[in-house]
Amino acid sequence: MSPDRLKRLLNIADFRRASRRILPHPVFDVIDGGAEDEWTLRRNESAFDTVAFVPKTLDGTQARDLSVSLFGHTLSMPVMIGPTALQGLLRPGGELMSARAATAAGTAYALSHGSICTMEALAATGATPRFMQVFVYRDRSFTHEFIDRAEAAGYHGLILTIDNQFGGNRERDIRNGFTIPPKLGAAQVAQMAIKAPWALRMRKDLPTLSFANYVRDGRAINMRDPKFRLTDMLDPGMSWADVDDIRKRWKGPFLLKSLVHPDEARRAVDRGVDGVVVSNHGGRQLDGMISSFEALPEVVDAVRGRIPVLIDGGFRRGADVVKALCLGASAVMLGRPNLWGVAVGGEAGVARVLDIYRTEIDRVMGLLGVSRIADLGPDYIRSVAR
Ligand SMILES: Cc1cc2nc3c(=O)[nH]c(=O)nc-3n(C[C@H](O)[C@H](O)[C@H](O)COP(=O)(O)O)c2cc1C
Repeated sequence: MSPDRLKRLLNIADFRRASRRILPHPVFDVIDGGAEDEWTLRRNESAFDTVAFVPKTLDGTQARDLSVSLFGHTLSMPVMIGPTALQGLLRPGGELMSARAATAAGTAYALSHGSICTMEALAATGATPRFMQVFVYRDRSFTHEFIDRAEAAGYHGLILTIDNQFGGNRERDIRNGFTIPPKLGAAQVAQMAIKAPWALRMRKDLPTLSFANYVRDGRAINMRDPKFRLTDMLDPGMSWADVDDIRKRWKGPFLLKSLVHPDEARRAVDRGVDGVVVSNHGGRQLDGMISSFEALPEVVDAVRGRIPVLIDGGFRRGADVVKALCLGASAVMLGRPNLWGVAVGGEAGVARVLDIYRTEIDRVMGLLGVSRIADLGPDYIRSVAR
């Protein structure tokens, strides 16, 4: 998409609509959908309606500073790219494009376990700071391999995602017959051919598309092999002992992602975790669970400023980000908005997405009469009836 057309996408909802036009229906659904009735997915987005701003306009200054300090790095704004699988299904090199855009924007990038490029290839872009997201496998030595590779590749932080040990019931994907690698039967080919530019771009990558980090004995694991189904590899019995084990193995910043319970946050701090990410996996796992934004205050309370509290889920406006910062979040991670950026415009698309957040946050802070992120607080918001 040309820079002019990208500029005409005014907000994140425009990016979602543009992705729907560009991507084959099953591919759009795999990034857009959630679990079961998608109640949590909708609630993530609508929860921001429960809080309204209360500005103090006359405190305004001419310029705002959006930078935040996180795990020893300065980010140019309180928004970073969170881990999402399959960016390379949207565009060849999707993860690399997205990481480059994040670095150019002065913010962090987190690579998913399920990237289409290897963690080493991502590191070779020089993206800084970069985080690696991992899971706990039944075979703990495989988890260790991921961690050791991340260390060797110079990742600046490790994220353990804890809510994905059982597969979520994503009915859109089941209906669409979506698999990785994608099946290429007559129905799929027909659906994909409708979106010709996407199909042309992806024609070389599609037949061999896989989770590139899954390597055994020097060879990529064939994800079609029933022995290596991801859901079977993950251990539903993961526990705090695994958190302790990883904490010992990984010396740098270590984050637990996808928790909403204050007890879990408190225990994470006690065990030496360096940061938590309040998240419900974008409503893709347990439908009916609390929205991230509504879970945030209790987690912030439990953590009592001892470690940063990050959050993701449903953030579609700079105003949403500012509301979370007012409630004590340190930064926001983007899931789908980044994927829509990759789908629509590759690196330039993600750059535009990040620019939209930056511009919106800056404007909201200006209108609130706040010049520094650290000055945002509960004083600037009130609970309101929907
Ligand atoms: C297509 C897709 C793939 C995802 N893959 C991962 C993953 O591999 N690891 C992970 O920790 N979270 C994953 N997530 C969850 C995101 O990191 C994040 O929690 C969620 O998308 C945030 O909500 P948002 O999409 O509303 O911003 C994925 C989300 C989507 C939409």
